Amino acid sequence: MHFFKYRADELYAEEVPVKKLAEKYGTPLYVYSYNTLLRHFKAYTDAFNGHPHIICFAIKSNSNTAILRLFAKNGGGADIVSGGELYVALKAGMKPEKIVYAGVGKTEDEIRFALRSKILMFNVESEDELRGIDRVAGRIKRRAPVALRINPDIDPETHPYIATGLRRHKFGIPIEEALEYYRLASKLKNINVIGIHTHIGSQITRVSPFVDALKRILLLIDKLSIQGVKIDYLDVGGGLGISYRDEEPPVPKDLARNLIPLLNGRKLTLIMEPGRSIAGNAGILVTKTLYLKKAEEKEFIIVDAGMNDLIRPSLYGAYHHLLPVVRKKRDTVLCDVVGPICESSDFLATERELSRVKQGEYLAVMGAGAYGFSMSSNYNSRPRAAEVLVKGRGHFLIRKRETFSDLIRKEKIPAFLK
Ligand code: LLP
Repeated sequence: MHFFKYRADELYAEEVPVKKLAEKYGTPLYVYSYNTLLRHFKAYTDAFNGHPHIICFAIKSNSNTAILRLFAKNGGGADIVSGGELYVALKAGMKPEKIVYAGVGKTEDEIRFALRSKILMFNVESEDELRGIDRVAGRIKRRAPVALRINPDIDPETHPYIATGLRRHKFGIPIEEALEYYRLASKLKNINVIGIHTHIGSQITRVSPFVDALKRILLLIDKLSIQGVKIDYLDVGGGLGISYRDEEPPVPKDLARNLIPLLNGRKLTLIMEPGRSIAGNAGILVTKTLYLKKAEEKEFIIVDAGMNDLIRPSLYGAYHHLLPVVRKKRDTVLCDVVGPICESSDFLATERELSRVKQGEYLAVMGAGAYGFSMSSNYNSRPRAAEVLVKGRGHFLIRKRETFSDLIRKEKIPAFLK
């Protein structure tokens, strides 16, 4: 449930007409709803209320510090995958003891930064990494809190690019080898084994893959306990899907109802790493129609947002609803909605039946709050979009639109070319 709704024929973000925002801040523009973000975050904390837990928001889905601050203020932590994300999380006010760090390629510098920041734990993905963390920790005289990321070989039934928990994926440690890895980890002097982590994929629309994964992990925890390895933190990752088109994914309450009974009597702090299910439907991308173009075989609506602003349609063939910001009674047209980028894959929608918009009118790309701005780039030397947070009647610029000079800010012309 989100707070982007029509009133009469005008799309609102909470109490503010989206058109007003587009006119004030320009387009392309990311607009987020504070109350939707909060509601989605609270859906997790309420659902898992009966069990010790930490909600570690997956920063990769949306790393705006204002949005992260919102979660931090409500007791949330962060799931990070880079030194940059750690920096952002800390700047946003996230408590280090609520930060978990995953990813297959942590560098020594990143490991040192995380150790010095005293994060809750590293979710370790390989033997080399484990030994690397041990080494770095030894050098700076720290003990590294560690969970091993276990790959439970579960098919999450999602897009192949965003499935992660199968044997063939680069992520995690195969469940069959887990005991051996834990034995090694327990022997390393500067490693403190405290947890277990798993994350099977993203945009998962059924509960059963989560249940199957958890059952496998709990069996492993029992085996570990027989070997004297005590696990305090059980991190089940993120991955709950959202409705982009007509999916009816489970909500956190469904997840809790199915997962908590399995934990019965265990003294485990549960960690969850939701990204999309919190931020996805809490944000839209507003774009302006530049031109209409009739080609021989089809019609194109050319808008001012491109694949550099929102890459999901181009990269995954992802579907996003497109809504006119002001609804008019008009015929529909079967069209491709495309951006200004010089690539044939630069589209927001293909073969879409849309109400015929006119030049200068705005469209809202729905479900753009997660993996939208965070995956955007400067391709074609396009300054990145502005971001606005709406709260009731208030609207707040939380990221300025980039300028042309931002595009070359870090560049240098060597003397011999001057
Ligand atoms: N935890 C870990 C270790 C992850 O790798 C991910 C996402 C999450 C949590 C958060 O998953 P979520 O709750 O958002 O599904 N760019 C793709 C999604 C990539 C997801 C990568 N990992 C997309 O736009 O669909």
